[in-house]
Amino acid sequence: SVLEMEVEQIMKGNYDHFMQKEIHEQPESLTTTMRGRLISGDSSKAKGVLLGGLKDHLKTIRRSRRIVFIGCGTSYNAALAARPFMEELSGVPVTMEIASDLLDREGPIYREDTVVFVSQSGETADTLQALKYAKKNGALCVGITNTVGSAIARETDCGVHINAGCEIGVASTKAYTSQIVVMTMVALALGDDTISSQARREATLDGLLDLPNKVREVLKLNDELKSLAKLLMCEQSLLVFGRGCNYATALEGALKVKEVALMHSEGILAGEMKHGPLALVDETLPIIVIATHDACFRKQQSVIQQLHARKGRLIVICSKGDTSLVCTGGSCRVIEVPQVVDCLQPVINIVPLQLLAYHLTVLRGFNVDQPRNLAKSVTTQ
Ligand code: G6P
Repeated sequence: SVLEMEVEQIMKGNYDHFMQKEIHEQPESLTTTMRGRLISGDSSKAKGVLLGGLKDHLKTIRRSRRIVFIGCGTSYNAALAARPFMEELSGVPVTMEIASDLLDREGPIYREDTVVFVSQSGETADTLQALKYAKKNGALCVGITNTVGSAIARETDCGVHINAGCEIGVASTKAYTSQIVVMTMVALALGDDTISSQARREATLDGLLDLPNKVREVLKLNDELKSLAKLLMCEQSLLVFGRGCNYATALEGALKVKEVALMHSEGILAGEMKHGPLALVDETLPIIVIATHDACFRKQQSVIQQLHARKGRLIVICSKGDTSLVCTGGSCRVIEVPQVVDCLQPVINIVPLQLLAYHLTVLRGFNVDQPRNLAKSVTTQ
């Protein structure tokens, strides 16, 4: 109806689409996600995080023999992004499960496991079914959702709300970055009493406090990504190479492009390049390589060299001011992003890819907020 359309326009404010609005409000949604949860250390208190819904269970989680992350779609990718830091700080092995796959296999879940369910809506059927399965097997079940009172929030033993605010675009954007931040805070809470990780924890806390500003900075790349979208809008396919924390960025970037821009896109673990993907490389296929500074940087430099040697059409996402990459000029484009602590870099690095997917969709003339065949919340199996 006309009234509904007017209400929708009011909700969108100055934006044309919800996805666009949600991408641009990430500095604010991240701030709300962290509100009241970070102890900055400027008082007499030590630096740390406070997660009310989890504090009584931290001991049990630290003692569990395994942490299992379960989710679908973007929520799975967010968990994958947080996994390395979670393992590092908790010292507990973290394994990943796509909800439907765990159910298909009836994979092993034990009483000694902590199972973390990640879901924006809190209602995804496969994730909810996996929760019932894990409960039946006696595991401690933790929920990370954006929806207070949702089925997953209700049925888990404890959890953390991501507080990103209502997300309307079918393609998840601000919920993704807030989920990564919440799981980073959970990792900090789990590592809280270890002296060996103190410096690392403090650097991450400082990184969290400054993250909204850094996201504001990376959003300034909007016009650059729009021009890149113009260049790529008629392509058939787009590859995204990442590794380490940014393997998740590659998967999530490719997911955004395929779900809204309806363009084939694949996220590739760069370490697997020689085991197949390299055969696809030629002068025509566009390839995005994520090569910001972290422990994997050297390896990623060599991946770029090898793609370059095969005349790959490269678009490199690198840390601001990086001059060490071989591939500058020529057919190669560079997107410079602000550098943050490695475990938070996925939050920064996904933003240009969200913007690219958004502009590709608009230019290709597809429905941004309700992509063909997809639903915001998949409540059937
Ligand atoms: C659907 C949505 C995705 C979302 C996925 C999982 O496929 O379109 O954006 O990532 O479900 O949803 P959840 O609410 O569990 O995070």
